[in-house]
Amino acid sequence: MTRYAMLVAPSANRVYAHAAPQLTLAELAVLDATVAQGRLGAAEVTEVAGVPYVVFEGDLTPDDLRHVANVSTALALFEREGDLLRPVALHRLDRFDDDLLTILKYQGKTNDLFTRMLLNITVQSSASAGRALTGRLRVLDPLCGRGTTLNQVLMYGWHAAGVDLDERDVEAYAAFLPTWLKRKRIKHTAGTSRLRRDGRTLGQRFQAEVAPDKESWAAGEAITVTVDHADTLAVPDIFKAGGFDAIVTDAPYGVQHGSRSGGALQRSPLDLLAAALPGWVRVLRPGGAIGIAVNNRTSPRAQTLALLAGGGLEPLDSEAYRGFEHRVDQAIVRDIVVAVKVPA
Ligand SMILES: C[S@@+](CC[C@H](N)C(=O)[O-])C[C@H]1O[C@@H](n2cnc3c(N)ncnc32)[C@H](O)[C@@H]1O
Repeated sequence: MTRYAMLVAPSANRVYAHAAPQLTLAELAVLDATVAQGRLGAAEVTEVAGVPYVVFEGDLTPDDLRHVANVSTALALFEREGDLLRPVALHRLDRFDDDLLTILKYQGKTNDLFTRMLLNITVQSSASAGRALTGRLRVLDPLCGRGTTLNQVLMYGWHAAGVDLDERDVEAYAAFLPTWLKRKRIKHTAGTSRLRRDGRTLGQRFQAEVAPDKESWAAGEAITVTVDHADTLAVPDIFKAGGFDAIVTDAPYGVQHGSRSGGALQRSPLDLLAAALPGWVRVLRPGGAIGIAVNNRTSPRAQTLALLAGGGLEPLDSEAYRGFEHRVDQAIVRDIVVAVKVPA
């Protein structure tokens, strides 16, 4: 048995206030219950020389360690030998500089560390978890805003698709990504065109092909990122059935975000989920997982899980999935719900 101590990034402490170590425990619990199959055991928070660490012990495989390296809050990992800490190299999946996720700041942005956690646990819960470290998954954010999830998916070298009804969000993303890629001298193509299906125009599509490295570009193996300006109810018209490994989204919180207004955007969060879910489930592949960040005050966990179950999904609600609730502000107590599409 090797004993490990993980140092939590100070940025996570700022985001989650005192909840950062607890959320790290929650993320590790899902990792343990899924890909690590109990090898991690129960983690806990311990102080070493006055500094809090998340500690756990187990016989981890090299792949387990690579998953641990991607834990959203992980700053550094050590093996514990008596009182001594021996650094363990963290081999993250990250393919690009981290300012891809941090540089954009705007009202209503989902925190990037939180988004990474949501993506991690959703993919780990899916049938595609085994391909996460080496494959190129396809992930949809059907309420993508200005693309925090899409950027995290791109960061991992996977294909990202997003849909949002707010034209300003789609335009902002279409302006941001090519500028960022140019500045980083990353090979890509990008452009906006009409999104047409069966002779109908559904909206506008921004599409980029991005090369994580020169070899992938030469081999024609670029990463595709699309953002559609459309209603999320159109998801099953836009995408083919069964094409996504995971759906990851931060649902509207049912509180006013200053600049946000307008008809369809005003729908209550649970009503929106109920209306959109059948389409989302359709584009998910069998064994695929959905992970949704919800505001417990407007979309109570139990009701949201019941909705997912009613939509033909299997909600994941074991102990491992119940540690994510945390306070964001007075109006928002955020939680995560995860469900999988059971193969027929
Ligand atoms: C919590 S925000 C997502 C923020 C995003 N993760 C980010 O960091 O930019 C929810 C998004 O849902 C979008 N939305 C609400 N109703 C929608 C609908 N019917 N179809 C598509 N998008 C919708 C809003 O425009 C908003 O961008």
